[in-house]
Amino acid sequence: MHRKSRYVAGGSAAADFSWRSEPDRRPSAPVGGMRKILELDGISKRFGALLAMENLSAHLNEGEALGVIGPNGSGKTTMFNIITGITRADSGRVFLEGTEITRLPAFERCRRGIARSFQIPHPFAGMTVFENLLVGAAFGDGKPERAAYDRCVEILRETGLFAKSNVRAGTLTLLDRKRLELARALATNPRVLLLDEIAGGLTEKECRLLVEEIGRIRERGVSIIWIEHVVHALLAVVDRLLVINFGRMIDDGDPHKIIASRAVKDIYMGQEDDTIQPA
Ligand SMILES: Nc1ncnc2c1ncn2[C@@H]1O[C@H](COP(=O)(O)OP(=O)(O)OP(=O)(O)O)[C@@H](O)[C@H]1O
Ligand SMILES: [Mg+2]
Repeated sequence: MHRKSRYVAGGSAAADFSWRSEPDRRPSAPVGGMRKILELDGISKRFGALLAMENLSAHLNEGEALGVIGPNGSGKTTMFNIITGITRADSGRVFLEGTEITRLPAFERCRRGIARSFQIPHPFAGMTVFENLLVGAAFGDGKPERAAYDRCVEILRETGLFAKSNVRAGTLTLLDRKRLELARALATNPRVLLLDEIAGGLTEKECRLLVEEIGRIRERGVSIIWIEHVVHALLAVVDRLLVINFGRMIDDGDPHKIIASRAVKDIYMGQEDDTIQPA
């Protein structure tokens, strides 16, 4: 049952809910440059007695796809929460394009170009799929309504959700909720996209399509950090790999060398083989 005011794909556009005047936030620098777009400097975070992140420093270059692996509970999602402003670090600093954003609220970081998917999908359950995207495009990117509407339709097609545009998000399957996480993040027009275990639970074919989609996003100049346990999917996309354990940096470098390293094998000892073996 839809309220009268509900936006539907294919409906008309009337209001202008833009919140700023800049035409486009996307940088004009060429893709693949080595300028740091995001930087973590000495981040520590404690939850009671648990030290979830210990003096972690890392960076993402502009145009780069960076993979992050580490065992369960090693602090990967905490790192995303600190980057996006959902969790405050106890110490250390976060920079976006050289500007410190450590104390900015989450919505402001989103407006500056950082978007994420959640490991456990968090749709606006009472809204349709299309409305979920519209929230991202309107309030995350500040697009005027007509432009937001058009961009959302494009993203629905790209992410395979077009047929579900007018379905209430709370009724979606897990796979479609994951698609929606990606789609809503894209609707904010990110420069930095953080993906948290978006391939978990997908079939091989779905995983391949996701890898292609992430490749296309990257070709458009979006810098990506992808946390993933499905390592063969990760290796198909990323330029560099970080390994985190107990909130500490274990390794940072060439993905294939790192996956084959003693340190990674030691960390994953006892875990299932396909969590550490490239396909
Ligand atoms: N808000 C919180 N309050 C208390 N403890 C937390 C909180 N968030 C995370 N933790 C703890 O911090 C540690 C790191 O959690 P985090 O979710 O970052 O791990 P992860 O590497 O993402 O794990 P997984 O691979 O299972 O998703 C865990 O021990 C977790 O229980
Ligand atoms: Mg996690």
